[in-house]
Amino acid sequence: MEVDVFTLFPEAFGWFTSQRHVANALRDGHTLGLVNYRDHTPLRSGQVDDTPFGGGAGMLLRVDVVEAALRARYAIDPVRLPAGRRVLALTPRGRLLDDELVDELVAEPSLTLLCGRYEGFDERILEHFATEEVSIGRYVLAGGELAAMVLCDAVMRKLPGALGHEQSALEESFSSALEGAPEYPHYTRPAEYRGWPVPEVLLSGHHARIREWRLAQARAAAERRPLP
Ligand code: 6GU
Repeated sequence: MEVDVFTLFPEAFGWFTSQRHVANALRDGHTLGLVNYRDHTPLRSGQVDDTPFGGGAGMLLRVDVVEAALRARYAIDPVRLPAGRRVLALTPRGRLLDDELVDELVAEPSLTLLCGRYEGFDERILEHFATEEVSIGRYVLAGGELAAMVLCDAVMRKLPGALGHEQSALEESFSSALEGAPEYPHYTRPAEYRGWPVPEVLLSGHHARIREWRLAQARAAAERRPLP
């Protein structure tokens, strides 16, 4: 899978790309390209943003700047990009990222992520260059970079081989193996600590009973905390 992230802060992704599952994915031939809008701006002195017409607070990423960065990367008119790949703009008003969307995205051969800054994007970027808007929750972040990292983390850990143990991505919170329920509780040694015992069934070695217990726990957690 080829992921390109367009941002004003590529250096913010340094920690992220060193995460083991991301490093594993890159080693396996997947790519994470970081493009700095500022490197491609046609404007003087590195300008990338401007004040909103009609007034109001903040600055908007300019449509001509985003076009130049996309052209530099893909060597085509970016209005043609949506026909060939999903181009996701990270915005607080977008479709909420969930396990279902992550599964859709991990099946794509290539993704383009557009991070906004300041007040966000000139609307024409969203209308003509992006296929969709994605949000990571109903709150407002100062920029799309953290949201892009959240999305890439959730997608890249599902790439075959990224985790190094395939089972853990299959049977985890919100997956269909657990009927979309939150995950069951986990325990490790010591088997008893300060009088707090590990549930007996987990020590029994009885795999069918353990599976049953875990599914029941996942269902009970779903009851306690209904999903939005
Ligand atoms: Cl994707 N961007 C921004 N700026 N704020 C957000 C968000 C995205 N998702 C939730 N809040």
